[in-house]
Amino acid sequence: MTTSEPRLQHDISVHFDASTVTGFAFAPPGWPAGAVARVLRRLDGGAVRSAIVRLPPGWSSGGIVCSSTYQGFVLSGRLSISNETASERAFFARKAGRPFAALATDAGADVLMVFDSDPSFTPASSADVATVFHSDILIDVEGFTPVVNGTPVAGFARRTLWEDPDTGADMRHLTISAFEGKGPNWHPVHEEIFCLSGTIGPDDRRILRAGWYLHNPAFGVHGYHEHSHKGATLLEWHDGPWKLTYT
Ligand SMILES: [Fe+2]
Repeated sequence: MTTSEPRLQHDISVHFDASTVTGFAFAPPGWPAGAVARVLRRLDGGAVRSAIVRLPPGWSSGGIVCSSTYQGFVLSGRLSISNETASERAFFARKAGRPFAALATDAGADVLMVFDSDPSFTPASSADVATVFHSDILIDVEGFTPVVNGTPVAGFARRTLWEDPDTGADMRHLTISAFEGKGPNWHPVHEEIFCLSGTIGPDDRRILRAGWYLHNPAFGVHGYHEHSHKGATLLEWHDGPWKLTYT
């Protein structure tokens, strides 16, 4: 261990099938009733960091300002955001304190939402669509071959859906072909992953399928046998600048 790795912990990653999580009424101050959240992760102190939020048919937020920066990826259903339509694979992000156009859904929607802190909402009379809005991330965002520690990762396509210029936090979409990883590694930031399709595992005990979630805590060594036999598509988000260090 070097002085740059003082806080490493081993094998502490958590994974589960998000569909098995019990939903609860998601009702932060100012957020209209009717939403149900299945929480993926809470911050220290209990605030929801990430959750799959089900918005019921007919739900509408009205123009809102949120106390937290937040992101949303539409997993299913359909939203409208002002005059924009946000169906499956739409993504939006909004900085804290900036008014956001009314979110509404006629048929209901499941949205994976990520908050930087405990959210509270207040009405906004005028609002923009979003800090970032992609109606279909596969069309709107160009994929590229990621380069990790100087090496292009052949067969992978990464899309950066958003990067917070203030914190370095980001949301990525990854298309992954069959691969075997290079062994255990860690990051200085929390890494959360939601599997959209296919199967992938950071090791042989934690296999992700569509709808499964994985949290690799900051400074938590993981990836003892990263692998996918047939490929996968993932959302992956971090709370600061991502960097990979092999152990
Ligand atoms: Fe990782």
